[in-house]
Amino acid sequence: MTKCVYILNGPNLNLLGKRQPEIYGSETLADVEADCQVLAGELGVDIVFHQSNAEHQIIDWIHEAREKAQGIVINPAAFTHTSVAILDALNTFEGPVIEVHISNVHKREAFRHHSYVSLRADGVIAGCGPLGYQLGLRTVAARLIAGDGE
Ligand code: DQA
Repeated sequence: MTKCVYILNGPNLNLLGKRQPEIYGSETLADVEADCQVLAGELGVDIVFHQSNAEHQIIDWIHEAREKAQGIVINPAAFTHTSVAILDALNTFEGPVIEVHISNVHKREAFRHHSYVSLRADGVIAGCGPLGYQLGLRTVAARLIAGDGE
């Protein structure tokens, strides 16, 4: 069966390309999704790509991923630094989880240096721009393929 990876995006990422381009660049989230679709085709995995400004919606998608996906790539955006609820939801998911940040959060304000999600993430990518999503997807796919032999 083809493996499925959920790629989840938190608040304000719908404005990617317009929002603080000096930090987040000029690519839109639609561009990111299109690039991930191409890569998913090359890797032989399916992706489901979502964005929401609502914490409960992200939690519901993580719950859905428990049934429908084998891996998660997540940019929780500001919820990274605040949401025990998203951490708890990710802790119910059994497959690989990669946390992505477009900007280098460690080079920014101190409140961005702590991530609840990192307590669950198997890998963290920060500061690589939108390419981080592709790195995250490659990492999840590689882990799923490696896990196939187990
Ligand atoms: C972000 C970093 C977060 O601190 C911020 O709140 C975001 C985006 C990033 O992709 O660099 O909204 O997750």
